Amino acid sequence: MADGPVSENIVRAEGRVSGGQRAALLGHSSITVWFTGLSGSGKSTLAFAVEEALIDQGAMAYVLDGDNVRFGLNRDLGFSPEDRTENIRRIGEVCRLFQDSGMIVLTAFISPYQADRDQVRALHPEGRFVEVFVDTPLEVCERRDVKGLYEKARAGEIPEFSGISAPYEAPVDPELRIDTSEPLDACVAKVLDRILP
Ligand code: ADX
Repeated sequence: MADGPVSENIVRAEGRVSGGQRAALLGHSSITVWFTGLSGSGKSTLAFAVEEALIDQGAMAYVLDGDNVRFGLNRDLGFSPEDRTENIRRIGEVCRLFQDSGMIVLTAFISPYQADRDQVRALHPEGRFVEVFVDTPLEVCERRDVKGLYEKARAGEIPEFSGISAPYEAPVDPELRIDTSEPLDACVAKVLDRILP
């Protein structure tokens, strides 16, 4: 799916409003902040807390969350390697649209493959994609087991579960690494420090 469109006879249309005009309207520049990590690592909690902090400061932010997107846009996808890649490809395109619209978009997807995350980065202008590794060790995610999914995965009730029976490739060179044994406020502050000028 990394290839071009299957449609022929399509031509790109040009808008008349620049990114600079949108930034002037909103008062900040736009960026995709991509949180990656195991299930239960704290991606959603952190992304929603950062979103709240940004909105409080008057910045236009929005979270795209893995579980939520799988109820709608990606309801046709499961957890095979191919489906995960397609999940991230589609959401990457959505991020690029949000980012182009002038917003700060925050994502919370396991996104287990480095190549998929790199593809999303490549869709963005230089410097407009920030990869944040929510670096919570498997043992900690499993001990927390907020959704009870690790217990099911260990019991063989959930096949291809990330970290247990499916791979998770930790980021090679993320812009930011978050240690969630620190308090949430401190984690939020680190992210804000990295993304706000
Ligand atoms: S991704 O691998 O394709 O990026 P995504 O972030 O959309 O995954 O969805 C992960 C969420 O789906 C998990 O937090 C968990 O709640 C749920 N889930 C259900 N089955 C699985 C599975 N086999 N592996 C990982 N997560 C699963």
